[in-house]
Amino acid sequence: MGFKEYFKQLADEKFRERMSKPLRPTIRITRKAPGNILERLESAGYELQRIPRYDRGFWIIRGDADELGNSIEYALGYLYFQEAASMIPPVVLKPQKGDKILDLCAAPGSKTTQMADMIENEGLIVANDVNRSRLRMLGSNVQRTSSYSVIVTRFDGRRLPKSLRRKFDKVLVDAPCSALGTSRRFPVNLEKRNMEFTLRISKLQYELLRTAIFAAKPGGRVVYSTCTLTVEENEMVVDRILKEFDNVEVESIDVPGLKYEPGITRRKGLELDERISRTARIYPRLNDTEGFYVASLIVKRSALRPLIIDASGITSLIINHSLWDARLKALVARTSWPIFGPRGLRPQYIAERIYS
Ligand SMILES: C[S@@+](CC[C@H](N)C(=O)[O-])C[C@H]1O[C@@H](n2cnc3c(N)ncnc32)[C@H](O)[C@@H]1O
Repeated sequence: MGFKEYFKQLADEKFRERMSKPLRPTIRITRKAPGNILERLESAGYELQRIPRYDRGFWIIRGDADELGNSIEYALGYLYFQEAASMIPPVVLKPQKGDKILDLCAAPGSKTTQMADMIENEGLIVANDVNRSRLRMLGSNVQRTSSYSVIVTRFDGRRLPKSLRRKFDKVLVDAPCSALGTSRRFPVNLEKRNMEFTLRISKLQYELLRTAIFAAKPGGRVVYSTCTLTVEENEMVVDRILKEFDNVEVESIDVPGLKYEPGITRRKGLELDERISRTARIYPRLNDTEGFYVASLIVKRSALRPLIIDASGITSLIINHSLWDARLKALVARTSWPIFGPRGLRPQYIAERIYS
């Protein structure tokens, strides 16, 4: 089944109408920006309106958004183009100063750099992705915004390096998906994707979320998000995790001012764990955004299961996970930290923070 038909089944008239309306462009003002950035943009003819869920997010009400993308303010990392709904998963994860955070599917870095801002770069964010070309964008966004609490790794998120097990206070899995929720911006997604794709990717999503459960410290929080609205890629993935792990609990989504509908637990032929109603379906019609799904999970105690460790090399830009072991200590003793190491921090210090 193609998405157009699925869409018809899934959604009411209001939803379809909203999906066909263009989105208002949104930006995030980074913490790096000078105090007078809003005045500067206003005097250049822009009118901005604050997005209530994240106080550094703004709708561009008047002014050319494309031009802003070519501005000096953008090049200096004062601005980041990010859709309003995409700012929500980090708000749900609630990163705090001092946290060790794993962003498992991080490229091109919208949520990584948002979280670096939220913790004011006091803490550590391991931003991982498997795709080399997307990692380049992640690297450039991390540099542009001076997100110096971020280090970038490349490993397949389905295979967590042993040294990263139970290490993180917070884990974000912003999973690859069929992107149905972005069809206001990219209507072509409705034509391009189909149910076979959804079913195939839901297996990957489950495996990524499973990794996140192993990566979290006991008591740690894991946020699972997608920019799609199919039950197969959202509630059914969480349901599979809840069936497998008895140490995982579902938290309610508590974001002031955010309108959402509860996760679906009952549908013809489908009966999912009731706790999934605590997750959030962010329909475009509710907040005039893209469509998103967000689930917040707490890992109550550690899950000890054997995991496969994959290993490969290192490049000048990307710290590969195979080095997160004793060899890392030897390496940092010899070399300076690669480009993405926190500026001003000794490599040993980073290693200590990972290992402690
Ligand atoms: C929705 S995008 C992430 C967007 C990103 N969080 C942001 O806010 O900018 C999903 C990402 O998952 C990555 N990905 C796909 N399969 C993966 C895997 N097996 N391990 C790690 N990352 C993977 C893709 O390369 C893609 O960059």
